[in-house]
Amino acid sequence: MMRIGVAGKGGTGKTTLATLIIVALLRNNHRPVLAIDADPNSNLAETLGVVAPKSLVEIVDEVTRNKYSIPSGMDKTQYLEFQIREAITEDEGFDLLVMGKTEGPGCYCYCNHLLREHMERLQRNYAFIVLDNEAGLEHLSRRTSRQLDLLFITALPDRVSLLSAQRICEMTERLELEIGEIKLVLNQYGKNFPQCSYVSTPLPVFFTLPFDEEIWQRSLNGKGLLDLPEDSNSYQVVWSNLKKILTP
Ligand SMILES: Nc1ncnc2c1ncn2[C@@H]1O[C@H](COP(=O)(O)OP(=O)(O)OP(=O)(O)O)[C@@H](O)[C@H]1O
Ligand SMILES: [Mg+2]
Repeated sequence: MMRIGVAGKGGTGKTTLATLIIVALLRNNHRPVLAIDADPNSNLAETLGVVAPKSLVEIVDEVTRNKYSIPSGMDKTQYLEFQIREAITEDEGFDLLVMGKTEGPGCYCYCNHLLREHMERLQRNYAFIVLDNEAGLEHLSRRTSRQLDLLFITALPDRVSLLSAQRICEMTERLELEIGEIKLVLNQYGKNFPQCSYVSTPLPVFFTLPFDEEIWQRSLNGKGLLDLPEDSNSYQVVWSNLKKILTP
């Protein structure tokens, strides 16, 4: 099983990249995939183009408030696990787990505690875990992304965004996260950067995601990327680079 995370400053294309990775894995039979939306303002479902499942926060909330009568022979934890498995099931070759919004830090802690507990077991069912993180750096200290085989950091070709990428790199070391490899992806959307070799980056640029009119249009119209044409440039860029990692 391989765990892939995407982090980066707000609006740099984390969700877009995570989605393209999921699409690439599915189309090339690297299944099953568990997609995790760890952004409280989640939109991974929309970017994929599927109906958002009930979030982990909602499920925990409902079960702990005794909204359901728990079937006999099951304890609360087992029932919770059952509800989570029910919620995350998609029919496109992947499952989608949405962390959800919390009222306060307490519940997120509880959710993360739960995730930790069930994650190991849950993850064993998948060949790939793809984690879309929220902007900022806080999530890196949460247990959900402590262990990753691969962390993509997205940045736009501007100073603030690249500094942010640098800080994320430093933070992974300071927090002693277990991350196999960190790769920087430069997303040039909205920028007319013919070459970016002169931009100083904290890490070598693994690849550059060009501006993609189709992705932009789909995002404006709330259309997902699961059925992106096979010849989509962005899809091809992501898959050709991901392939290098999967089959070195
Ligand atoms: N290469 C690209 N070409 C065209 N549009 C893009 C590209 N990358 C991102 N976008 C668009 O830019 C917007 C922001 O991208 P995205 O949501 O992926 O960023 P994010 O880092 O996940 O943002 P947030 O921090 O809010 O979660 C979206 O509307 C997305 O469709
Ligand atoms: Mg996002």
